[in-house]
Amino acid sequence: MSKAFYVTTPIYYVNDAPHIGHAYTTVAGDVLTRWHRQRQESVFYLTGTDEHGTKVERTARENNMEPQDWCDRLVENSWKPVLETIEAANDDFIRTTSTRHRKGVRKFWETVRDNGHVYEADFEGPYCVGCEEFKRPGDLVDGKCPIHDRPVEMLHESNYFFRLAQFQDALLEHYERHPTAVEPKSAYNEVVSFIKSGLEDISMSRSSVGWGVSLPWDDKQVVYVWFDALLNYITAIGYGEDDEKLASIWPANVHLVGKDILRFHAVYWPAMLMAAGLPLPDKVFAHGWLLVGGEKMSKSKLTGISPESITDDFGADAFRYYFLRAIQFGQDGSFSWEDMAARYQAELANGLGNLASRATAMVVRYRDGSLPAPGDYTNADLALQELLVACAEQADAAMGRLDFSGGILAIKEFVDAVNVYVTEQQPWVLAKDEATAQRLDTVLYTICESLRAIAVLYHPVMPAATSLIWDSLGAAGELGQQSVLTVSQWGQLAPGSVVTKSESLFPRLDTK
Ligand code: ME8
Ligand code: MG
Repeated sequence: MSKAFYVTTPIYYVNDAPHIGHAYTTVAGDVLTRWHRQRQESVFYLTGTDEHGTKVERTARENNMEPQDWCDRLVENSWKPVLETIEAANDDFIRTTSTRHRKGVRKFWETVRDNGHVYEADFEGPYCVGCEEFKRPGDLVDGKCPIHDRPVEMLHESNYFFRLAQFQDALLEHYERHPTAVEPKSAYNEVVSFIKSGLEDISMSRSSVGWGVSLPWDDKQVVYVWFDALLNYITAIGYGEDDEKLASIWPANVHLVGKDILRFHAVYWPAMLMAAGLPLPDKVFAHGWLLVGGEKMSKSKLTGISPESITDDFGADAFRYYFLRAIQFGQDGSFSWEDMAARYQAELANGLGNLASRATAMVVRYRDGSLPAPGDYTNADLALQELLVACAEQADAAMGRLDFSGGILAIKEFVDAVNVYVTEQQPWVLAKDEATAQRLDTVLYTICESLRAIAVLYHPVMPAATSLIWDSLGAAGELGQQSVLTVSQWGQLAPGSVVTKSESLFPRLDTK
């Protein structure tokens, strides 16, 4: 059995409900995995929640709840439902308070300790609860964490250390040999220069925290929350329990992370894996931040916009389309309702939606809803077929390098070209004259066959709207199983298919 293409999101802290920044990562992972599914690959897509640590514990207590009850409530009422809101098709959902995870964490650290990479020592230094991170003095600005703009806490405790420094050379060598193991390039450079600046051993446990996974060899301490959380990527797929499953999915092909948590994923995590003798992930991709007023949108700062507040008006498809189209993946981006509404209207309602409704309406009107067989193709028809070949290739190449906006742009270019084709061929004029009946057949077929390809290519991005298009074309088979690799082979729609008028895919905003 071939190894699955494995994609992960970070597991999210349940100190509050999700905002569009979290949904952004999950949508990106979802589009990536759906694209690979439609390349006929076996795929595994994981997301979940990070429930231990000081931040979550304090929030629970501030709300007069036990941490476990707090987590259960937030996971069931907020974090799982948001996956439906944005139409994410994850294969599993891992919670760090689950038994499978807790068992795996204990087994992992037992192994790493047995391998000689853990020792006991005193720790003293600053800690940011927002980041759940031990800071170096150089990380602070005016004594505060620059990400959370809050004072750090001074910790002084006796705990256990992970021999991170020991992996410095091995990590550098790994990144020299695998220059695309961290992307984009700016993130790669940041990681390499951090490692070169010198790694220090790092505390892997906390003695003053109660909410966590206790150490197998010292039940007065819990595993430091990051060294618990990172393990979700393997505990979810059988680590310590099902070696066969683990081997069929691990290592990850892509860990998607926000740039704020790059160091954990590109320095600590591979060092942990080396210490346990496990293979390293192929790639960590660090995307940018959604900004509000120029700052990172944040739960801790209560500046989050809820995904529902956008999907309620625009729908999940437009949400998914917008964030991946408007922001270059890897860069920061600002959300604005105006920009969202403008693209919705121009690109979705007037672009794709209008094409689908014109195409299907004309087959219903001129050919009683039966897709005609094409006659001889003209140069204009053939040019469109060639453009489809090029656009499909470009889209696949772009999606393969996680250039979502480039992938969407390639598909959109084809949509625009088909709209121009409709305008130029004037099927409504051809329909007036019996002498051009055959030409009308060819034009209608060309438009519908183009729309078929568009539905297949856009399905990973907009699963709902494309399914409606697929159904109204009377196309055979499951849309989600149509290959993006053979999508440009012309002539897949069978003449005689029953075409029905497509409902409005992207209703006008002013009618709401
Ligand atoms: O860091 N813009 O969880 P977290 C874009 N539990 N993405 C954003 C964002 C923004 N403004 N805000 C959050 C944690 N994100 C840890 C992770 S993984 C083993 C443990 C996204 O709830 C982004 O993907 O703070 C970021 O990495 C993630 O949410 C952090 O979520
Ligand atoms: Mg955070």
